[in-house]
Amino acid sequence: MTALFTPFELKSVRLRNRIAVPPMCQYSAVDGVTNDWHRAHYASIARGGAGLVVVEATAVSPEGRITPGCTGLWNDAQVAGMAAIAQEIKNGGAVAGIQIAHAGRKASANRPWEGDDHIPNEDARGWQTVAPSAVAFGANLPKQPQALGLDDIARIKDDFVAAARRALDAGFEWLELHFAHGYLGQSFLSPHSNQRDDIYGGDFEGRSRFLLETLAAVRAVWPNHLPLTARMGVIEFDGRDEETLQESIELTRRMRAGGLDLLSVSVNFTIPQTNIPWGPAFLAPYAERVRREAGIAVASSWNIDDPKVANRVVEQGQMDLVMIGRAFLADPHYVYRAARELGLEQPWDVLPPQYAHWLSRYRQA
Ligand SMILES: Cc1cc2nc3c(=O)[nH]c(=O)nc-3n(C[C@H](O)[C@H](O)[C@H](O)COP(=O)(O)O)c2cc1C
Repeated sequence: MTALFTPFELKSVRLRNRIAVPPMCQYSAVDGVTNDWHRAHYASIARGGAGLVVVEATAVSPEGRITPGCTGLWNDAQVAGMAAIAQEIKNGGAVAGIQIAHAGRKASANRPWEGDDHIPNEDARGWQTVAPSAVAFGANLPKQPQALGLDDIARIKDDFVAAARRALDAGFEWLELHFAHGYLGQSFLSPHSNQRDDIYGGDFEGRSRFLLETLAAVRAVWPNHLPLTARMGVIEFDGRDEETLQESIELTRRMRAGGLDLLSVSVNFTIPQTNIPWGPAFLAPYAERVRREAGIAVASSWNIDDPKVANRVVEQGQMDLVMIGRAFLADPHYVYRAARELGLEQPWDVLPPQYAHWLSRYRQA
């Protein structure tokens, strides 16, 4: 059996193969509410045969959106649209996942194709950002965030819990906490962005506290039989990489003890100036270390879309799931292409019968 096409089980959930679609913001919501764009987008991807489709970074509060077009689950009016999306994903035969998120100091930005820069506070579309400390990201995101007080931190944890409950109500079976990419969770962990001198900052214990407490609070309401996962950067590529990796692995061990079922391994993106080696599957060796040293299932992404590479990283035990992002935007039937390239005998079987039946017929032997 081709490694990429073996099923994967986590808690009570079964993925038909190891190909997952990672969260990818569509920046197309209004007041956090999804619409036909999202529904068609997720439906087409799920019908393409992926094992898991994770819905884009969905904000736990209005201030936690990256852009005004981000999806949200901070009120009940947002649940019906998400329920329709979860259903579309299931109709396509995939497991329905969702990432819940707070963008921290990277919030209040224009859509990537409309500037990718901060919207000034004076602009009616923009808002005051918040972060562990009043330290700006810089580059295209220069706004100075407000340092969070203890009450604010407690409120944000509650927001994650409320969003998790709504995700469950909407029918999602796989939850991902966004602790990556320089957004709020990651910015608590990184000394680049966390310069607090209270219990949420300082040493590793302090910088980990927000992530561990948020995980514990969400685990308390997210059913035990369903996977609770997180996405976290484990490396910044800023020159102090071994230290960051070791902290990240230790935090993953603690999160696993706190009920985490899988880590989606990514890059920190906490500072603008880094030296990322963008080669094929460049994160695979780091994902493998997390998997081995923290003893937890891992997924990872970034430039793994060559099917042979995707198959190899699973076969060699570097990751349990491969996340294929942009290749799915270019081709919602990526899985069929991968099945053909890897020489599956009946590659159309990865597609729903409405498609598969026809692909197997009317060809010369
Ligand atoms: C349009 C777009 C939106 C994205 N939005 C998110 C997001 O909401 N949450 C997240 O964790 N990563 C996000 N990412 C990163 C992807 O999940 C993925 O890691 C990245 O595209 C690299 O994988 P790839 O090389 O297969 O595309 C986004 C990427 C793209 C291209």
